[in-house]
Amino acid sequence: MFEDRIRNVSLRSRVLSVDEVQGWIHDGMTIAVSGFTKSGDAKAVLKALSRRISETNEHTRIRLLSGASLGDTDKILAEKGVMSFRLPFQSEPFLRDRINRGDIEYVDQHLSETAEWVRSGWFGKIDFAIIEATAITEDGGIIPTTSVGNSPIFVEKADKVIVEINLSAPLDLEGVHDIYVPAARPHRKPIPLVNVADRIGTPYIPCSPEKIVAIVLSAEEDTPSTVSAADPDTHAMAEFIQEFLVHEVRRGRLPRHIGPLQIGIGSVTNAVLSGFENSPFDRLELYTEVMQDAAFELLDAGKVQLASSCSFTLSRSMREHVLSHLGQYKNRVVLRPQEISNHPEIVRRLGVIAINAALEVDIYGNVNSTHVFGTRMMNGIGGSGDFARNAALSIFVTRSIEKGGRISSIVPFATHVDHPEHDVDVIVTERGIADLRGLSPRQRAREIISHLVHPDYKDELIEYVRRAESLGGHTPHVLSEAWDWHFRMLKYGDMRSLVHAAQSDVLEFASQYRREPFRVRR
Ligand code: COA
Repeated sequence: MFEDRIRNVSLRSRVLSVDEVQGWIHDGMTIAVSGFTKSGDAKAVLKALSRRISETNEHTRIRLLSGASLGDTDKILAEKGVMSFRLPFQSEPFLRDRINRGDIEYVDQHLSETAEWVRSGWFGKIDFAIIEATAITEDGGIIPTTSVGNSPIFVEKADKVIVEINLSAPLDLEGVHDIYVPAARPHRKPIPLVNVADRIGTPYIPCSPEKIVAIVLSAEEDTPSTVSAADPDTHAMAEFIQEFLVHEVRRGRLPRHIGPLQIGIGSVTNAVLSGFENSPFDRLELYTEVMQDAAFELLDAGKVQLASSCSFTLSRSMREHVLSHLGQYKNRVVLRPQEISNHPEIVRRLGVIAINAALEVDIYGNVNSTHVFGTRMMNGIGGSGDFARNAALSIFVTRSIEKGGRISSIVPFATHVDHPEHDVDVIVTERGIADLRGLSPRQRAREIISHLVHPDYKDELIEYVRRAESLGGHTPHVLSEAWDWHFRMLKYGDMRSLVHAAQSDVLEFASQYRREPFRVRR
């Protein structure tokens, strides 16, 4: 066992108990851990630390950096009040609550950028990097588990490295990873990745054995992902996207073998990706940051040929399936550091088609992915901005209504903008698809209202645009009313108004917004 997992003989004497190692962590330290969208996260030392803190009632707060969200460690650390600072993405309701109460300073960041910030020293000294691993090579190289995240840069820049060997991670994971770390700027060379599955680095994170100060053993599995199943809404969105892509191929604007797909995190995007199983597309490729269950279903169905990602974020049953059949995926799937999986230059060069989810979008195509009612953090921007700005085609999906219809996801003015109109090509709801490419703001409003909005909200939105346009402007608004719907929701628990278009001039104006079936506009 030891021989396979810790191949460097001198390092075997550094196996210590979790309790001993957690004792090295003190108030004010900056700790950088492996983990990306609940996978491959360092679990043992941080959990032991939070146990210590709850037993001793001591005041110890750490600054915690990761790749993205951790599994239940994020919850436990938030419950025990162990974090003073968190970066760059989370998806844990309890942690979210602490962030929204102002107890934890949270920095929401493009996931491709964290490594650059670390490289530039903007976070100051990193006391420990704690990295979950499958094994350590003879030279000290760390073979990650189910994600890579920011681990390579954390290992490079931290003062000391603690490795958590996870015995539940099959040794067969070796060979899945491709670790390429760009040099510091300004003397960086172009990243030599030309095809989705190219291997340009090493199958382990390089690390000098002297830097590894402790190794702890664990066997805890990743927290299973819990995406909801496809439903009629997500099914309709998937169909609209298929129809649209087929049309784009017919018009010669996309090649027959469409560009690599990026699929964002969440239930809606997972269901939309599942929809590709019934599409006419085959030999698909993924250049994405997270592979959820649907990605492996499509690999198994032979629809997806190759996939590049940063993590496997899977349900319990899919995790068991994938980890026990790694041999059949190894030549088709590669896990990379997030600064490569999300690299803006590569995304643009490969012609990625990005599909991400929105919380709300406004009538001009600005997208809010992160802030409920402009104030309360949901998860974070994640990699959606890395992809949306640079993709060949940037698609956002959202249900037209939420919370039983009390919220419209299409609003006059987004309360927070993660993706400005300039980065958004196409928006899809269960009601239709709005192709915004090449449209002016006034044209975009017509396209969005005609095709995406739920009938409960349509008349009022049309009336809003009518009055806004009468005030003039390139992007017309009635500023004093732009967030009325949100205020109404906060005050009455429902965005809907009883006011409907009735006057003849309103009806005439409204005729421009007649809902058409999905059509080929150009
Ligand atoms: N106002 C208020 N709440 C809203 C809302 C709106 N306009 N739209 C959605 N919600 C709520 C839903 O009701 C749901 O609430 P619940 O948890 O109480 O049920 C919650 O937001 C999540 O919505 P859901 O429809 O389940 O979507 P999802 O699981 O597909 O997640 C995002 C959607 C936007 C939260 C998710 O995709 C995300 O975090 N995106 C940002 C990061 C990203 O895009 N990364 C991409 C690269 S991986």
